[in-house]
Amino acid sequence: MTTAPTGETIEKAVFLAGRAPSLHNSQPWRWTFDGSALRLFAVPDRLLSATDTSGRQLLLSCGIALDHLRVAMAAAGWRISVARFPNPNNLDHLATITFQPAQIVTDGDRDRAEAILRRHTDRLPFAAPAGWSDFEPVLRATFDPTDAVLDVLWDDSRPALAHASEMTASLRRYDSGYHAELHWWTGHTVADAGVPREALITQEEQTRVDVGRKLPTSTGPARRPELSADHSAILVLSTDGDTQQEVLRCGEVLSTVLLECTLAGYATCPLTHVTELARSRAVVRELTDRSQWPQVLIRVGSAPQPEDERPATPRLPLSEILQFDGPATTSGQN
Ligand SMILES: Cc1cc2nc3c(=O)[nH]c(=O)nc-3n(C[C@H](O)[C@H](O)[C@H](O)COP(=O)(O)O)c2cc1C
Repeated sequence: MTTAPTGETIEKAVFLAGRAPSLHNSQPWRWTFDGSALRLFAVPDRLLSATDTSGRQLLLSCGIALDHLRVAMAAAGWRISVARFPNPNNLDHLATITFQPAQIVTDGDRDRAEAILRRHTDRLPFAAPAGWSDFEPVLRATFDPTDAVLDVLWDDSRPALAHASEMTASLRRYDSGYHAELHWWTGHTVADAGVPREALITQEEQTRVDVGRKLPTSTGPARRPELSADHSAILVLSTDGDTQQEVLRCGEVLSTVLLECTLAGYATCPLTHVTELARSRAVVRELTDRSQWPQVLIRVGSAPQPEDERPATPRLPLSEILQFDGPATTSGQN
């Protein structure tokens, strides 16, 4: 019985893992495969140090990529075992992954992998997520609450969240490092990274999404004019602390939440501007009424006109994120 997938299977899975969302599409990850184990590394050169001063968002992004890899391998007929932070002398080495052939590939495995390609960040206003009360227990059953706790905030929390969002923008007003990164990484792409202009929204649309990060605006006719305001559910994922282990695992849960919401037909948008600064993070924490610390918020809702026709945001070529250290291919199962 072979215990390692072929190089070709690894390439396909790492390609899907590379579709993971990341702060400003910075894609701070790289992988190596030695013929039996796959290793995930953080790329500190891709840390947005003025925006993500704690480095938590880099780890969240890498955690999403790690879970996307798990999903991609499950669809290819492999279960994975993950050793997180296996080398105390190199904390950029986030995980070593080994493989066992799966007994079965379910439709659910294939659907989740397919959802990776459909998921995208939608910054337009959403209607309240239809059928949420049936979906929420299903969603909660898909992850381990010791990895991250989930709260759902509704319209009654909106004024406080909008206030936290506004306060963040004010606190950042004269933060030239933050604005330099924002303008470098958004509104265009450079070498297949960054947020393209087509993924941004107009100033008028921004006013209807009162909790969104203030990004550079695009131009064009108003989209979703039937939604005069955003009525998304706002999901908050929190952890006991901010250790690297906790944040990486929270990123893995974030991946699960985004993919399950995509499978259920909801539009999603991660939000982190209100968890970057201590004052706004404290407001979000108070809204959850928890002792845990919020790591990320996710707007989830129903989109009357899905953005399916918009081209997917670009990603780095596989050759930049995957390196074969050992035999390039094995004769293992695909
Ligand atoms: C940790 C993290 C933080 C993010 N923060 C924001 C944010 O505050 N506002 C926003 O509009 N998008 C945010 N995003 C979405 C990214 O900009 C988006 O994932 C990236 O541009 C790739 O686009 P895609 O998700 O459509 O593939 C965040 C994503 C991650 C993973």
